Amino acid sequence: MSQPLITLDFLDKAPAAEAALPADVRVSAATRTGRARKLYIESYGCQMNFSDSEIVSSILADEGFDTTEDVTTADLVLLNTCSIREKAEQTVRMRLKQINSHKKRRPGMLVGVLGCMAERLKSKFLEEEKIVDLVVGPDAYRDLPQLISQVDGGQKAVNVLLSREETYADITPVRLNSNGITAFISIMRGCDNMCSFCVVPFTRGRERSRDAHSIVQEARDLVAAGYKEVTLLGQNVDSYKWASADGTEHVNFAQLLERVALVSPALRVRFSTSHPKDITDEVLHTMARYDNICKYIHLPAQSGNSRVLELMNRTYDRPWYEERVRAIRRILGDDCAISTDMIAGFCSETEDEHQDSLSLLDFAQYDMGYNFFYSERPGTLAARKLADDIPLETKKRRLQEIIDRQQLHARARYARMVGKVHQVLVEGPSKRSAEHLSGRNSQNQVVIFPKQNFQKGDYVQVLATSTTGAALLGEAV
Ligand code: SAH
Ligand code: SF4
Ligand code: F3S
Repeated sequence: MSQPLITLDFLDKAPAAEAALPADVRVSAATRTGRARKLYIESYGCQMNFSDSEIVSSILADEGFDTTEDVTTADLVLLNTCSIREKAEQTVRMRLKQINSHKKRRPGMLVGVLGCMAERLKSKFLEEEKIVDLVVGPDAYRDLPQLISQVDGGQKAVNVLLSREETYADITPVRLNSNGITAFISIMRGCDNMCSFCVVPFTRGRERSRDAHSIVQEARDLVAAGYKEVTLLGQNVDSYKWASADGTEHVNFAQLLERVALVSPALRVRFSTSHPKDITDEVLHTMARYDNICKYIHLPAQSGNSRVLELMNRTYDRPWYEERVRAIRRILGDDCAISTDMIAGFCSETEDEHQDSLSLLDFAQYDMGYNFFYSERPGTLAARKLADDIPLETKKRRLQEIIDRQQLHARARYARMVGKVHQVLVEGPSKRSAEHLSGRNSQNQVVIFPKQNFQKGDYVQVLATSTTGAALLGEAV
């Protein structure tokens, strides 16, 4: 295998002017040695990948890597990749071609692929994409320093071992692209469900829950650093389950949610994703008890038809899903926002069954929908057992019908919020106007209002006076 030429000129950079720093600034060992190499990291896919990139940056900061936003000057370029649909993988391959052109101008640049595509393709990646030096799966990030030194030594490096224990609980993430107000906290990894369409159990391994104390501590640290909102992340947060080593302490998701909500009443708590088979009334009652737990639930249905749901191996049927929506309305009221993911054109789906998905949208009146057409993934149950037999044009047409119907409901949900006062956490200036601020209400709807003297991080009571259908416009009261 041909090896990239590695130039070590970055080792000779002048050290930062350390003497000028005040005594209480902690300068990492690497910065003190002046050996800072530049890391450029790009994340694709779900929030868990974004959260993992923050862990990777933390591990590499200890190795003397500073992050940069300029790929052309990077010493190490990492793409944290997604395999969920074929298109996600195509995007990464196209990006690698662009990076190749940067690498030609900067021959010392190392290129690594992390995340789900790394896990799915393993060392095959090195054969398929010659530009790649490093392939690292989601449970192997602690090994990055060792793997990078292997690459520095002129070899290619691969570690795609999955773990039953790794949760990176002790690693403090470096917050990337942070607004300083909202942050993600990973509470678990992997997935033990075997939805027949889904690649995640293969790329992320077995489900494991992170130590509850380390989660609460991370939330406390974020509050101390000025953060106002955390989102607890997992593929299926409702199956969170942690026990202390001596077996005296057991924490389920509802209890964890409560512990995080108690960190500070000024800290908003969100979570994602809830699995319809696992979300309990206990979780809903916990949400009802705490004002700072946001009234928004992402509850992916995938389909509105029981036969299709069974083929998808989702382990619930339509009546069960409808009952969970009713429970949300019963316990949290009509104002609680619900969103879904829908897959159009799954194997053997008939027109009538597609109509059931549309009617589920009408039943649930979702605030938001993330909708896709089915994309067969190699190795999954569906790829092995079911024919991907819906023509692409049909899949696309059904998807468009789902999107159109969902938009009607989203607009209606925004419209019913007009005339009400919302507590808005300000995230920053509005993209449209420097005279306006943008934030979110508890339901995760975007709210835009005149800036006055308010700032990022403030909680502001805003009367919604109109809606664009995708945001509320209003004024502080
Ligand atoms: N753990 C979450 C989903 C994570 S994947 C859950 O169970 O709901 C995010 C979404 O991608 C899924 O909800 C699904 O709608 C979509 N998805 C997953 N695999 C897909 C595939 N093969 N084709 C199309 N969409 C897919
Ligand atoms: Fe995939 Fe299903 Fe697990 Fe979600 S619950 S990650 S869709 S296998
Ligand atoms: Fe994609 Fe992996 Fe997330 S496949 S959606 S990055 S868990």
